[in-house]
Amino acid sequence: MNTIKSKNNIMKNTLVTALFAIVCVSCGSSHEMSDKENNLKNFADGKFLVGVALNSHQAAANDENIVNLVNRNFNSVVAENCMKCEVIHPEEGKYDFTLADEFIKFAEDNDMHTVGHCLIWHSQLAPWFCIDEEGKDVSADVLKQRMKDHIHTVVSRYKGKVHGWDVVNEAIEGNGDWRKSKFYEILGPEYIEYAFRYAHEADPDAELYYNDYGMNEAGRRDKTVEMIKNLQSKGIRIDAVGMQGHMGLDYPSLSDFETSIKAFASTGVKVMITEWDMSALPTINRGANISETVDFQKLLNPYPVALPDSIDALWNKRMGEFFTLFVKHSDVITRVTAWGLTDEDSWKNNWPMQGRKDYPLLFDRDYEPKPFIMDLFNSGCNNIN
Ligand code: GLA
Repeated sequence: MNTIKSKNNIMKNTLVTALFAIVCVSCGSSHEMSDKENNLKNFADGKFLVGVALNSHQAAANDENIVNLVNRNFNSVVAENCMKCEVIHPEEGKYDFTLADEFIKFAEDNDMHTVGHCLIWHSQLAPWFCIDEEGKDVSADVLKQRMKDHIHTVVSRYKGKVHGWDVVNEAIEGNGDWRKSKFYEILGPEYIEYAFRYAHEADPDAELYYNDYGMNEAGRRDKTVEMIKNLQSKGIRIDAVGMQGHMGLDYPSLSDFETSIKAFASTGVKVMITEWDMSALPTINRGANISETVDFQKLLNPYPVALPDSIDALWNKRMGEFFTLFVKHSDVITRVTAWGLTDEDSWKNNWPMQGRKDYPLLFDRDYEPKPFIMDLFNSGCNNIN
């Protein structure tokens, strides 16, 4: 973004803030929104934390506009990539904390609640982690030791600085089967227990989370509940379930998502929406063959300039409905984190094809809040308690 545009946006944001203060005063609300700057962080104050995933460029804090935008709107941060195994532990015995340290510095400098993401995940895993020098799977004992070293080293380094860890990410398939990752193949499902135990040993005060996508699916929901109960029965700490919340215009349904919130909460753990975004583009099956034909490119990337008004309205309506659902369950939901700051930053622009233009986040490419946020402030004066 160029500087003139940034300044214009800051002025526009200030104007928007002032306008909302007037709207809320005229509502006569007991929320006293007039005293507060209008943003999701303040709006959700007392309900849940509002977080954002930062990429390493943002966490380097070289751009004042980014730092201000994050501070104005969020009170929790998570690193998008730099704490993943392939980055932080690229070779056996060799750690690289450069980017993770920078992220933690950002979090401390800006007094943010901080989430560590993620300790054990089959994807973005350093290639050496589960194999020996000949490329064969390591033994169960070796893998346990590697997991222990990795988790102890990373968690200890940020002890007292990271408030909660995504300990295990994506261990369960949609139909309720265990994901056949290397961790599962070598150690069985017990690898999950080991991971939580090692994390707790390294920082007994840190919260520990299980995190997964597609949590609206019945099979994954039921298996997750079973897994939580198993950990609890063995006295292993688990504080919350992270529902990633990568959504589209046609999935998940509000009611399936709500059923899962209730199911997880019924086990006694908290619920977090950990990677919230909503693609505005047509849903493409993961298995889709990404053809290079012009027609197919158009199908995949239908709005390369701007989102049509009708789709924009649909997107904002759904985002508002989900946010309202989160507020409704704020007795059990303790954090809602967006997976990226602005539309420009989202991984969705490059998945499943490089160069798609998507519009999935809370702020647009000009750093403007999306309309659903403003609608929430208006309706929130009356009916969100
Ligand atoms: C998963 C991971 C995230 C991120 C997203 C998409 O949800 O948990 O770290 O990689 O995929 O990029």
